[in-house]
Amino acid sequence: MKIGILGSGVVGQTLANGFIKHGHQVKMGTGNPNKLNDWLKAAGSNASIGSFEQAANFGDIIVLAVKGTAALNVLEKSGNKNLADKTIIDATNPIAETAPVNGVLQFFTNQNSSLMEELQSKYPQTNFVKAFSCVGSALMVNPDFGGIKPTMFIAGNNDDAKLQVKGILNIFGWEIEDMGKAEAARAIEPLCILWCIPGFRENRWMHAFKLLKNN
Ligand SMILES: NC(=O)c1ccc[n+]([C@@H]2O[C@H](COP(=O)([O-])OP(=O)(O)OC[C@H]3O[C@@H](n4cnc5c(N)ncnc54)[C@H](OP(=O)(O)O)[C@@H]3O)[C@@H](O)[C@H]2O)c1
Repeated sequence: MKIGILGSGVVGQTLANGFIKHGHQVKMGTGNPNKLNDWLKAAGSNASIGSFEQAANFGDIIVLAVKGTAALNVLEKSGNKNLADKTIIDATNPIAETAPVNGVLQFFTNQNSSLMEELQSKYPQTNFVKAFSCVGSALMVNPDFGGIKPTMFIAGNNDDAKLQVKGILNIFGWEIEDMGKAEAARAIEPLCILWCIPGFRENRWMHAFKLLKNN
């Protein structure tokens, strides 16, 4: 598949490398292409760089991996025609500019809303699926927990889009919990706050969530 990655930070690069490792072609969208020269050299012939618009146009599937405060702006730059009828894997979190309090991140959304719902309502023809937002970048692709698969929580309104994302998550080594429609992002996005607390307080960053079930 052709994957357009909107975002060139550690998440964009990690997921891009993951897609390339699993045989896909990637175009990374950025406003600062020069900073990606080293990545491009290392990533090989299935990697390329472009503007946000070019990456969105390239992708059969799109990954949104930009700073939460910039998400709407980057989608606008990407162009509605390049986003319509496509699946967007939304890895973003609505982290506010203000500093964490005792290790607890602050969000710019409230508990009865989510960033993904806001994006989905602005781009109704695009199929957003929340995924990868509740784990650190170092563990996003084929994480090693001694044979135990951690759980990725996903949500989105379109079942076909979620099926595509489930296929990718399977290959990336995740157990999947589909939490339903876009509103479930109100519960998934804040998992990032919980996930980061051991990091900020004790410099522990190598954990992931696992949903234990007996049915
Ligand atoms: N870091 C993690 O482990 C982790 C884990 C789970 C989820 N997330 C979420 O994933 C997203 C990406 O995180 P990240 O750590 O890779 O990097 P980040 O620093 O949050 O985002 C970097 C990207 O955001 C873009 N950006 C920043 N400000 C912008 C602006 N004003 N206008 C347009 N674009 C702007 C940058 O554009 P340029 O390419 O032009 O520089 C770059 O592509 C975030 O929403 C984060 O909350 C992060």
